[in-house]
Amino acid sequence: MSPDPLLSVDDLRVTFDTDRGVVHALDGVSFDVNRGETVCLVGESGSGKTVACESLTRLVPSPPARISGTVRFDGRDLLSAGTKTLNSIRGGRIAYVFQNPQDSLDPVYTVGRQLVEAIRLHRDVSRDAARRRAIELLDRVGIPNPAERFDEYPHEFSGGMKQRVVIAMALSCEPDLLVADEPTTALDVTTQSGILHLLKTLQAERDMAVLFVTHDLGVVAQVADRVVVLYAGKVMERGDVFDIFDRPAHPYTDALLDSVPRRGRTPKPIGGSLPDPTDPPDGCRFHPRCPHATDDCREGPQPPLQALEGDGHRVSCVYYDDDHDAGNVNELRATAETTTATTMEGTDEPSVRDESTTIRGDER
Ligand SMILES: Nc1ncnc2c1ncn2[C@@H]1O[C@H](COP(=O)(O)OP(=O)(O)OP(=O)(O)O)[C@@H](O)[C@H]1O
Ligand SMILES: [Mg+2]
Repeated sequence: MSPDPLLSVDDLRVTFDTDRGVVHALDGVSFDVNRGETVCLVGESGSGKTVACESLTRLVPSPPARISGTVRFDGRDLLSAGTKTLNSIRGGRIAYVFQNPQDSLDPVYTVGRQLVEAIRLHRDVSRDAARRRAIELLDRVGIPNPAERFDEYPHEFSGGMKQRVVIAMALSCEPDLLVADEPTTALDVTTQSGILHLLKTLQAERDMAVLFVTHDLGVVAQVADRVVVLYAGKVMERGDVFDIFDRPAHPYTDALLDSVPRRGRTPKPIGGSLPDPTDPPDGCRFHPRCPHATDDCREGPQPPLQALEGDGHRVSCVYYDDDHDAGNVNELRATAETTTATTMEGTDEPSVRDESTTIRGDER
């Protein structure tokens, strides 16, 4: 792993003061993104993925948000940076693609004008040069007849084309880091696959780092170099994509993998729901839904992230000790297989993940 990551997030905490109480959206989240690699943030709805992306450049509204920790980008701490610095970094060196292109495109201006403005915001170029660059970018992201489509309005584009325009806009200033928050969730599978392919190609050409948010593990298997598994504002596990898919250590990662359709396996939904973010449980945040939870899991703080074998593979589970010994948890899983009196719904199969059914071989 690179000793000098492009983005280094350390102990990031975000709370929101609300009428319901203090929402603990992120609670001590740490991860790195190196140049040229794709890191996927995964987790169920409400786990904190969007808040993590937006707080990197302080896009979350503050108040009600309170943000602490460190976000180092190319050696500079963004959480303590001034507004001027942040504005030049946002959209310039760190660009965003959000789930819904409608949120990023203004319906009253042509697509071309919006692209030209995005380019001129960060680059000192003439209107003509920006226009040429915009048409080039539209072509690059696969918009047919880009010179003609330049003068059309967003409503004249399909959903997939709008998402391509938003990607073109994000790439217009050649960012070092692209933050893509569910960029393909609303699209059909073929368009999604075209956009993922496009992102991978552009990334390789520019050595761009990508922080990619998705709850779709099929997409993770296609794009990720490394994976960060978030649950209720905490990192449960992180590691390279092969460790996460082939050797998942946290029961939550296991449950996520079991919840997706895979060849020959009936998907098993994860029973229960995320805890109330204003009153998260003691111990491991996943313990109320964990089929392996014991008293040790219900007390104290979230267990620290323990290093496992595998580059950067870490898990936050009491059953991994300092010697990286997973023996305890394997025993517990074996016991759970026989009792299967789990808290997971629809568990008509053993809850132990069968090593022969890894996604890697089939789908990656
Ligand atoms: N402005 C806000 N005010 C109060 N709470 C918020 C605000 N924004 C986010 N939250 C809370 O922070 C938590 C994390 O939200 P976030 O949007 O990051 O989830 P997510 O993982 O992106 O979910 P999804 O997959 O549905 O997009 C949730 O409990 C959410 O309700
Ligand atoms: Mg989100």
